[in-house]
Amino acid sequence: MTSTAAVWDGVRVRVPAKINLGLRVGRLGEDGYHPLETIFQAVSLYDDIAVELLPGTTLTLDMRGEGSELLAADETNLAIRAGRLLQREFGQGRDQMGAAISIRKGIPIAGGMAGGSADAAGCLLALSVLWDLDVTQDDLIDLGAELGSDVPFCILGGTAVGTGRGEQLAPVLTKGTHHWVLALAEEGLSTPAVFRRFDELGLGADDFEQGQRNDMMAALRSGNPSSLAEVLYNDLQEPAFDLRPELADVMAEGMRLGAEGAIVSGSGPTIAFLADNEVAAMDLASGLAALGVCRDVRRATSPVPGARLVG
Ligand code: C5P
Repeated sequence: MTSTAAVWDGVRVRVPAKINLGLRVGRLGEDGYHPLETIFQAVSLYDDIAVELLPGTTLTLDMRGEGSELLAADETNLAIRAGRLLQREFGQGRDQMGAAISIRKGIPIAGGMAGGSADAAGCLLALSVLWDLDVTQDDLIDLGAELGSDVPFCILGGTAVGTGRGEQLAPVLTKGTHHWVLALAEEGLSTPAVFRRFDELGLGADDFEQGQRNDMMAALRSGNPSSLAEVLYNDLQEPAFDLRPELADVMAEGMRLGAEGAIVSGSGPTIAFLADNEVAAMDLASGLAALGVCRDVRRATSPVPGARLVG
């Protein structure tokens, strides 16, 4: 007996959010960016991307889930920009380079967790497979850097040191799995606005102290959550708190409820609480949710792989 079920010939990709376990920011450079040194870690909140072939160079985008109603599904969207970049780079001599892109968002938007960058990263991978392009992961990482500073890390995943604008990556060895509780804020924060406030506050180191980075590496190798909790740092926390003073209260409540440590994720406003283990994370999540001090609470583990094809 032959099956009459149609075979779906699209491509699916799952791509994670990131948090910055450590983030040192220098003074604004002439290129409009701040030099930085960060320790990225991919966490288990995901955007799921599906792409199907369309004729010509047509790109369509359908987005659902977490905050998607606030995003423009037009040429400014990082998912479409990823597609256009591949068309420009590889389009010569090809007539089938269109796609219908569907994204189910699980990563909060404007939350400091690389939600937009994740979509760019996921689309680069999904479309390169759909269009059968001859590219390596390193090629996608280089292309990703043209779309945004966090895109290369969303492709790589795991744990990595990021330098330059955050796009130059070196993987880091870690032990074990960490359990996080993420407090999502009512309203997002714009990354450029947080960097602007950083400048207005006169912040920015001239060079990055290596001791702090070495302490972080040792904590990551130990796999011990209380060691990691002691060395979390983020230079964007001060401008984020300055723009949203209530975030400091959310952080204090989570610590009072027994978190091992806490850090603003990237430019915020998401706050990441590190728990001792899975049970402690469940208790912390329900405690924070009951207080009603944030829009929503999510649990996640880390590290997880970067953008990957799923069946
Ligand atoms: O690279 P991306 O487009 O994600 O950056 C968004 C904005 O964040 C930049 O336009 C810049 O204002 C700010 N930024 C920065 N320094 C960095 C990364 C981002 O000032 N290292």
